[in-house]
Amino acid sequence: MNNGIKSLKEIYRDYFPIGAAVAVEDLCDEGQKNLLLEHFNSLTAENAMKFERIHPEEKNFVFENSDKIVEFAIKNNMKIRGHTFVWHNQTPDWVFKDNSGNRVSRELLIERLRLHINALCEHYRGKVYAWDVVNEAVEDKEDHLFRESEWYQIIGEEYIELAFRIAREADPYAQLYYNDYNNEKPYKLEKTYKLLKELLDKGTPIDGIGIQGHWDIHDSELFDNLKRAIELYASLGIKIQITELDVSMFAFNDHRRDIVAPSREMLEVQAQVYKKLFEIFRSYKDVITSVTFWGISDKHTWKDNFPVKNRKDWPLLFDEEQKPKPAFFSVTDFN
Ligand code: GLA
Repeated sequence: MNNGIKSLKEIYRDYFPIGAAVAVEDLCDEGQKNLLLEHFNSLTAENAMKFERIHPEEKNFVFENSDKIVEFAIKNNMKIRGHTFVWHNQTPDWVFKDNSGNRVSRELLIERLRLHINALCEHYRGKVYAWDVVNEAVEDKEDHLFRESEWYQIIGEEYIELAFRIAREADPYAQLYYNDYNNEKPYKLEKTYKLLKELLDKGTPIDGIGIQGHWDIHDSELFDNLKRAIELYASLGIKIQITELDVSMFAFNDHRRDIVAPSREMLEVQAQVYKKLFEIFRSYKDVITSVTFWGISDKHTWKDNFPVKNRKDWPLLFDEEQKPKPAFFSVTDFN
C-alpha cells in the first residue's frame, strides 16, 4: 500500500504474476520505475530482445539494453519473460541473405536460427523463465494457416517445430510459448488450435500459448471469445499467458484524431472492460500463469503510433501522470 493505493502485484499474489513490457528509458524515469517497483513482479523487454536489437549483424550481439532490464528485474525479485526469437517483424535483413546478397539457403537459415536461439538461451539461462519462441506465425487471411514470412518461405512450416526443439535443447528449464494476437477470435482460434495440436502430437516442446491481448473498449464479443479460447487451449494441456495486454480507447478501424483527452465516460467504459477481463483471468487462474501489460502507464505506449501514427491513446491502468485510472480500481477492488 502506497499513498492509500493498493499494490497490483500484492492483490494478485495468489493468482498470477503481473508483468509490464519495458524499455530501458523506463528504468531512468522515476515515475515509471516507481510504478514498476510497486505494482509489477514480471518484466518483458518491449524491444530490447528482438532480433534486430539484440543481434543486428551476423557476428554482433548487443546485450547491453536487455541486460539492464534483466539486471533490474533480478535485483527487484521480478520474473523475466523473453520476447522473442522468431518473428516476421523487426528481424534484420542479413538473416535472410547469404554473403552474395542472395536469398539464404534453407540449411543456412536453420543454422542461423540455431545460433541465435543458442546464444540468447546461453546468455540468459536461469534468468529468463519463459520465452516467446515463435511470434505471430498464423495468417490472418481466411483459408491460409501459415503467414508467408521469410522464415516460412525459406524453411517451410517446419521452422516452428525446429525453433521449439532448438530452444528446449538450449535451455531445458525455460518454458516455451507460442505467442500471437487475435488468437482468441474465432477466425484465428480454430487455426491456432489446429497448429498447436499437430505440433504437440508430434512431440514439439510447447509449454504454453501467449494471448497478446491488444484489445479495445468497443469489442462486444471479447469476453465470450476469450472464455472459449482459454477453454480450448487449456484442453490441449498447455499453460496460457496474457502477454501484451492493453485496452485501446479506439476500435481498430477508428482513425479519428480529434480526441485529445479521454472523457470520463471513456475511462468508465475502459474500467468496465478491464474489470470483466480480470474477472475472467481470475476465474481461470489454474491455467493462466501470467498477465503482462504492454507498457506501464499511458505516458509511454506503442498505441500512440498504432494503428494511427502520432495519435495519443490511453490503454493502460495508469495515466500520463502515472496516477491510477478508474481501470486500476476496477481490477483491484474485487473482494
Ligand atoms: C506485437 C509484438 C510486440 C510489439 C507489439 C507492439 O504484438 O509481439 O513485440 O511489437 O506488437 O509494440
